[in-house]
Amino acid sequence: MKQTWDTDLYQGSHSFVWQLGQGVVDWLDPQPGEHILDLGCGSGQLTQAIADRGAIVIGIDGDAAMVTAAQQQFPDLTFQVADARSFTVASPVDGVFSNAVLHWVAAADQPAVAQSIWAALKPGGRFVAEFGGHGNMGQVMAALATARAELGHGPSPAEPWYFPTVGTYAQVLEAQGFELRFANLRDRPTPLEGETGLVNWVTMFAGRFLADLTPAQQQAVLTHMATALRPRLYQGGRWFADYRRLGVVAVKPIPPDSPWDGAVRG
Ligand code: BEZ
Repeated sequence: MKQTWDTDLYQGSHSFVWQLGQGVVDWLDPQPGEHILDLGCGSGQLTQAIADRGAIVIGIDGDAAMVTAAQQQFPDLTFQVADARSFTVASPVDGVFSNAVLHWVAAADQPAVAQSIWAALKPGGRFVAEFGGHGNMGQVMAALATARAELGHGPSPAEPWYFPTVGTYAQVLEAQGFELRFANLRDRPTPLEGETGLVNWVTMFAGRFLADLTPAQQQAVLTHMATALRPRLYQGGRWFADYRRLGVVAVKPIPPDSPWDGAVRG
């Protein structure tokens, strides 16, 4: 799915996207000298975090403005515009990393993404990712739909995102040949910045659900939605997004007839 980004907002009030991705870098555990591909690198902060561990990293993203912003901010790193469904690498890498990206790829395209990741990895290489899982933003999207309906604006358009269960996504990876080493779906309530944090989130990420309305109607729907959600998602003076994260670690197996490469894998 094509989504364009406000790169300033992404790096500013939506900086939680990459700040909360630091834990995914820990799962990846990049080692000095390893070659890593950051799939959907956005504005490049996690690409830099991977490079800070001594790995040789390339960031790719489908959004040219993001790649330009990443390259300006981290001129020593390599970034390229590429499509998650069809990217290729010059030589196979030790790891493919992806944070908060794969929910933007339609279900029908997920096998192509898995195939591209597989082709990019060395045998024994790992794929480490986190993205929105089943039920992600369920309360917000339900409240938005209710607000539209109660204010007489008809049903919301269908959600464009892919928020799979563990089982559904495991099937995608296993059909490609990956060995799933870890998969976890968890609630991760995500703090948003400021009194308008929730409205900012909806405006940036879910604007399509308001696109058919006038600015005044949009404002009314957003206010209605926020009023309904305040008792549940406004805690201790701040808004929380009801994120649910699906984390996975999968390995491209070394073919059983390969000679031992001398590595000791714990
Ligand atoms: C997410 O990171 O979970 C997300 C971001 C934008 C839209 C939907 C979900």
